[in-house]
Amino acid sequence: MYIITAALIYANGPVHLGHIKSTYLPADIYTRYLRLKGEEALYVCATDDHGTPILLEAEKRGISPKELVRYYHEKDEKEFKALGIEFDIFHWTSSEENKLTTYEFYEALRPYIYPKKVMQYYCKELGRFLPDRYIKGKCKYCGAEDQYADQCEVCGRTLKPGDLIDPYCTLTKTRPELRESEHLFFKLSYFAPFLKEYVSEVAPEELRSYLDKWLEDLQDWDIVRDLEWGIPVPGHPGKVFYVWFDAPIGYIGSLRALRKHDWEEVWNKSKIYHFIGKDIIYHHYLFWPAMLKGANFNLPYRIPVRGYLTLEGKKFSKSRGWYLSLEDALNHLHPDYIRYYLTAITPSGLTDSDFSLDDLKAKINNELIANYGNLINRAFKLAQGKELPKLEMNEVEKALLEEYKKHMDATEFKEGLEIAMELVHYYNKLLSDNEPWKKPWEEAKEVVARAVYGAALVTAMLYPIIPFTTKKIAEHFKFPLALEYPKEISLEKPFVPFKKIEDETDKLKELLLSRSKGQESA
Ligand code: 2FM
Ligand code: ZN
Repeated sequence: MYIITAALIYANGPVHLGHIKSTYLPADIYTRYLRLKGEEALYVCATDDHGTPILLEAEKRGISPKELVRYYHEKDEKEFKALGIEFDIFHWTSSEENKLTTYEFYEALRPYIYPKKVMQYYCKELGRFLPDRYIKGKCKYCGAEDQYADQCEVCGRTLKPGDLIDPYCTLTKTRPELRESEHLFFKLSYFAPFLKEYVSEVAPEELRSYLDKWLEDLQDWDIVRDLEWGIPVPGHPGKVFYVWFDAPIGYIGSLRALRKHDWEEVWNKSKIYHFIGKDIIYHHYLFWPAMLKGANFNLPYRIPVRGYLTLEGKKFSKSRGWYLSLEDALNHLHPDYIRYYLTAITPSGLTDSDFSLDDLKAKINNELIANYGNLINRAFKLAQGKELPKLEMNEVEKALLEEYKKHMDATEFKEGLEIAMELVHYYNKLLSDNEPWKKPWEEAKEVVARAVYGAALVTAMLYPIIPFTTKKIAEHFKFPLALEYPKEISLEKPFVPFKKIEDETDKLKELLLSRSKGQESA
């Protein structure tokens, strides 16, 4: 059994194309691929409901955090579905299952948790402790005004309580005081020897030096916050667990909601894959495995990482209006086109990619449709109403199929896609070189049969990436999606599986430009 997860999405804003390309799509592709091979796999995800940004966003909108996370949970779920991201469960970290699981972890990790007094900002007017993001002031290092209490955006320094000159509460505009609060710390340092070994087994080469730097000086983790929103810490009124404590537990909490009776056994007996973006490597390679080890749970088998996405060469920025959401993309583009393009530009590993609308249009029209769409059309047209001879795959096909599997097994989907398209090219060339349409059927039939069987084979290979269209094709010609020549096939009248992109990408460009202009003048 495999458990596939995608990093749990914060329930405080719309799904972003960057999230899709680094996480949700690769995890979906892998789950589909595993099933294509006949493996059992569960795709588990949830919204990440806790943390200060959620509280801030809810406050800004004048609603409760609960209302906010409910709203985004529903919206995200709808959009994921429209893109063909098929979770076995899309749960939430504020669920009962996750609370219970978090308490069980807390109990199991007690030997590694100790109390320590820390100083925190306290607003007398509100009568409560304030999260860093509610405090602003002058950076004591560089003098920059209006910096948040946790980090100076001007000099980049991490700030501690007390590092701001003339701090003020952003809600009441009054000066907060520093008060002592007892927090709980997780002894991450204790796990250093274990983590060194774990990382050396699991982490790809390119992450090693990055992780080694952390490992040299592992700091214990403060796992509580003086907040109302979150999972309450038993015996510590007014405190909740830090969001990064209960969030990864949400992988298990969600599995528990899906498999009420055997979740523990399923977790402990599966190969666990966590798909993540490169901003959360630390949490997944170090913090989470230490928690799992301490609580005696099965460890992640692989943690595939992907880089960031830029948009037309520039960083995505909500405040500058330079962004396209998943919803925007879905409003104009077939989901398979979004999936195909994002896969084609996303190597596995840390490298970033750029989302370009012209490039998307070119890849869909001139690659996917011109090559694969054309193969489907030509091969099935030539074969319509005929009887095909039985054939075996030749050496070229076998080698390319093996290469495809090697990449897909290693979660290298861009490379897997490239091999599938190479095979498409091979069949197209077979047809062009042999021109079976000019020959009597007896002479033509072997080439036509190979092209038809091959078209079915590449349809299966492309299925994890473009499931909507490939399923339609397989249903139309009644062949099973499998990584082999089809066992059966029906030579129906061909149909047009794809529609070329015309002005859809231009419309998205216009949307992007008007948005960023609007922000400039605002
Ligand atoms: O960085 C993020 O977007 C987090 N919400 C990811 C959480 S992943 C898991 F650990 F829960
Ligand atoms: Zn500064």
